[in-house]
Amino acid sequence: MNTLCLPAQENTIHQAAQLIQQGQVVAFPTETVYGLGANALDDQAVRSIFTAKERPADNPLIVHVAEERQLDGLCEVTDTARKLMAAYWPGPLTMLLYKTSQVPNVTTAGLPSVAVRCPNHPVALALLRACQLPIAAPSANRSGRPSPTTAAHVYEDMQGRIPLILDGGPCQVGVESTVVDLTGPVPCVLRPGAITPEDIAAVVGDCAVAPSVMRPLKEGEHAPSPGMKHRHYAPKAKMTVFVGSNDQVAAEIIRRYDAAENAVILSHDDLLPAFGSRRAYSLGANAAEGAHLLFQRLREMDELGCSLILAQGWEATGKGLAVMNRMARAAAFDIVKV
Ligand code: TXA
Ligand code: MG
Repeated sequence: MNTLCLPAQENTIHQAAQLIQQGQVVAFPTETVYGLGANALDDQAVRSIFTAKERPADNPLIVHVAEERQLDGLCEVTDTARKLMAAYWPGPLTMLLYKTSQVPNVTTAGLPSVAVRCPNHPVALALLRACQLPIAAPSANRSGRPSPTTAAHVYEDMQGRIPLILDGGPCQVGVESTVVDLTGPVPCVLRPGAITPEDIAAVVGDCAVAPSVMRPLKEGEHAPSPGMKHRHYAPKAKMTVFVGSNDQVAAEIIRRYDAAENAVILSHDDLLPAFGSRRAYSLGANAAEGAHLLFQRLREMDELGCSLILAQGWEATGKGLAVMNRMARAAAFDIVKV
């Protein structure tokens, strides 16, 4: 299959909407990462997403809508959900709610809940309105690769597998949406994102965070979200994350860099000068910039063909929780406190 990558504008968005109505898969930008979308209500179309991504069939998809009203008939919208939608939609917040029989089981991987989100991106919203269908869309990477934050990343992973990529430029947030489970008595964050647990608690009074957000699942432990048990965001090189004071992190990274053959460094902007002529790349000046840059940097490190990535972590609170959750997984939880 020939894969077109076209700038997102009125006619190409219309073309993408027609492909979705015909049961095909197209990639499109959102404010978080690029998505790989198809008609959420069409079994066969949803199966094509799993094939293109090589995604395990037990990992459910997020259903994207243009507005809250489009959820009518798809799921049971609770009062808590309504409050959170009023506060944060459109935006990077995905909610788990009980589904109706209208949502095919392939979309939710057989689970009784469905993940729903209204993305805050003009192209995603225009596409949703043009096709007038809910769009099931995981991140547009091949399974196990970092999520794509540019159309070029999508092309790398999806070339020959889908007919069309809408290019809307780089994604602003850079890590995937917050996933919050609203099927229990207290909202519980299963995947941290730009909307923090504090942001959720500010609207609905309380919010828990799943323990597996910052540590690996234990042997036999139930995964509250199937995505947690699959290998994720893995660069080809081995990666270690360092947290602690700037001075100590710099010293430990330099010690390991100089002892290694083919290492690279990822650090906060203020630490970069400490590494002199060593190969060091920016992870931004704060956690939000770190989130924006992380997946792009991981892809760049793969291209460099380095064998070791030594990365400075962020404090795992507030906006830092989302980026550290991804860094921890990229490093297979090899986090060193210095
Ligand atoms: O920002 C995002 O959320 C992007 C853009 C494209 O919207 N999408 C995205 O989708 O990251 P995906 O499929 O890569 O991640 C969805 C996550 C997975 O970890 C999946 O296991 C979880 O949400 N999930 C989806 N439905 C679920 C459900 N019913 N119960 C538990 N977890 C669910
Ligand atoms: Mg993904």
